[in-house]
Amino acid sequence: MSSISKRVRTPDLSRMKERGERIAMLTAYDATMARLFDRAGIDVLLVGDSLGQVILGLDTTIPVTLEAMIHHTSAVSRGATRALVVADMPFLTYQVSPEQALQNAARLFQEGGAAAVKLEGGLRVAETIRRLTTAGLPVMGHVGLTPQHVHRLGGMRQQARHGEAAEQLILDALALEDAGAFAVVLEAIPDAVAEVVTTRLRIPTIGIGAGPHCDGQVLVSYDLLGLFDTYVPPFAKQYAQLGELIQSAAKDYANDVRLGAFPHHRTGADVSNAATFQDHPLPARLVEAGMAAMATEDGTQ
Ligand code: KIV
Repeated sequence: MSSISKRVRTPDLSRMKERGERIAMLTAYDATMARLFDRAGIDVLLVGDSLGQVILGLDTTIPVTLEAMIHHTSAVSRGATRALVVADMPFLTYQVSPEQALQNAARLFQEGGAAAVKLEGGLRVAETIRRLTTAGLPVMGHVGLTPQHVHRLGGMRQQARHGEAAEQLILDALALEDAGAFAVVLEAIPDAVAEVVTTRLRIPTIGIGAGPHCDGQVLVSYDLLGLFDTYVPPFAKQYAQLGELIQSAAKDYANDVRLGAFPHHRTGADVSNAATFQDHPLPARLVEAGMAAMATEDGTQ
């Protein structure tokens, strides 16, 4: 468990890097899951635009809208009491101009309750990041494989594999730090390149498919839980197979319904459970009507 017991704030992540404490980050898209991850001690919850694939059934993150991100970020913010909530800025909500980025980021903070935003890109978005950070909005960077650029990159493939590209990635990460980013996600790059970036930056690096030398790790939670089987990235570890559990529970339920085994027929003994109605904020009129109906069904009236 992390040493931070109160709400995690952006400066805590740099302190964790200084102390050599690894940062645990996961994606979350709704309040229930956010609450569970929060209780499990996850430090950072990313409302990733990966919600396009794992929640909305899209092929890429490109069609994800700002409205969808605000909607899911506000749900995650309501579920998390300790974790830092970071919201992804979707495609083309920050590339037009720094002013456009500021206005859209402000909505993720004000309407979504985010504590930080994440945007993809290196040197090209450094000016935009500086605009946001000087306005007081914490920004997490994201370099390497940047899924919003999947068409330009020619697919979801490892980046910075050769000398010049690796050098450029290091410069990109340094530019983000210089622009005021508080952390940088390194996605799908060679371990050795991630190690150099992690050593050169004062701010923490969070890796995904970038090896063990980063200051923290992030996974798409649906990959970790075995909930999304359309595509499982080779670096993702599945800690559970919830997809199979859910299918089997739903199948058992459907069988019970078809066999008439669910719901159980009410017996006289069940009527005594009617007291539990009083624990619920049902209007007295409805509770009385329900009890009268049950009594009639049992022939006690
Ligand atoms: O959208 C997302 O889930 C992400 C992670 C892969 C870092 O950006």
